[in-house]
Amino acid sequence: MPYPQERPRRLRRTEALRALVRETTLAPDDLVWPLFVVPGRGVRNPVQSMPGVFQLSADELLGEVQSGFAAGVRAVILFGIPERKDAQGTEAWAEDGVVPRAVRTLKEALPALVVMTDVCLCEYTDHGHCGVLRRPTAGGPGQDLTVDNDLTLPLLAREAVAHARAGADIVAPSDMMDGRVAAIRAALDGAGFTDLPILSYAAKFAGGFYGPFRDAAESAPREGPGIPRDRKAYQMDPGNAREALREVALDVAEGADMVMVKPAVPYLDIVRQVKDRFLLPTAAYHVSGEYAMIKAAAERGWIDEDRVVLETLTSCRRAGADLVLTYYAPHAARLLTGKRP
Ligand code: PBG
Repeated sequence: MPYPQERPRRLRRTEALRALVRETTLAPDDLVWPLFVVPGRGVRNPVQSMPGVFQLSADELLGEVQSGFAAGVRAVILFGIPERKDAQGTEAWAEDGVVPRAVRTLKEALPALVVMTDVCLCEYTDHGHCGVLRRPTAGGPGQDLTVDNDLTLPLLAREAVAHARAGADIVAPSDMMDGRVAAIRAALDGAGFTDLPILSYAAKFAGGFYGPFRDAAESAPREGPGIPRDRKAYQMDPGNAREALREVALDVAEGADMVMVKPAVPYLDIVRQVKDRFLLPTAAYHVSGEYAMIKAAAERGWIDEDRVVLETLTSCRRAGADLVLTYYAPHAARLLTGKRP
C-alpha cells in the first residue's frame, strides 16, 4: 500500500479535471461595472490614481458601456460629478442632472442593461460629506460639525426618486445614514416605483481604500474650519464585525432587496458572515484602492494582472458574494470569455 491513501492531486491533473471539481465559478453576469459621469460631450478625463478609468460624458459613457456589454457586462453603477456643488448637494436630485441624463442615454440605447445608480450626496456637496452639515448636539462647544442624519434622509429620498424617474433599474444608497433604506423605500413607493429594488451599501467601512475614488468623483471632504476630515462619524470602524451584521439586519428590516459589503478583499470575513446569516443577494465592492493596488503592482511587472484579477474576483465569490462591483468588470469579462482585453 503506497503511503498516502488520499491523494487530492489526482483531481488536479488536467485543466478539464480541475474545472469539473471547481467549487466556485466566476462569470461576466456576476459583475457590476462602476462608472463616473460628467456633464458635457466628448469628455474623457483619465483618473490619475486609477489607470484605465475615466470620467466620461454621457456620449462617451455609452460607447464604453456598449463595448462592455458586448463582452458580457450587463450591469453598471453610475456615479455623477455635477457642474455645480453646494452645501446641500442640490444637483443630486435634479431631474435633468448628470446621472438622470446618463441613465436615459444608456437605457434608450441598451434597454436590457441593468443600470444601478449610487445614491449619495458627497459628489454633490461643496464640503464633500455624504449629507448636510450642522453643529452637533452632543459634546458641548468646540466640536466639529456633524452630518445631520435626519435632514439628509429626505434629500437622499429625492435623489433616489429622480434616478427612478430617469429609468434606473436599481438604486444603491452609499451614504451610511441611519434609516435611509426605509426613507428611500417609502419615497419610491409613494412615487409609484414599488417594483424598483434597493441595493444598500449596508456594511461600508471607513478606511483608506476609497482614496482613488475620491479623485475620480471629486468627492474628498474639503478642508475647512469645523469640517470633519474623514467619514468616520458615519461609515463603520474597520474593527467591527458584529456591528456590520447589525447594520445589515437594519437594512433588511427597512426593505433592502440586496446588501453590500465594502471594501471587498479586506472584509471577506464580513461577506461570508452576511451570506450565511441573511437570505438576500450579497454584493461585494472591490473598491478603487483595491483596483489601484493591483494596477500599480502590475505596472511594475511585479504581478500578473490577469491572473490576480480573476483570483481576486473568484475569492469574493468564494466568500459568498453573489455579485461583485469592480472597475475590472470589462477586463475580467473579456478574460472569462476568451476575448483578450
Ligand atoms: C460615496 C461612495 C464612495 C464610494 C462609493 N460610493 C466613496 C466614499 O465613501 O468616500 C467608494 C468606491 C470606491 O472607492 O471605489 N459615498
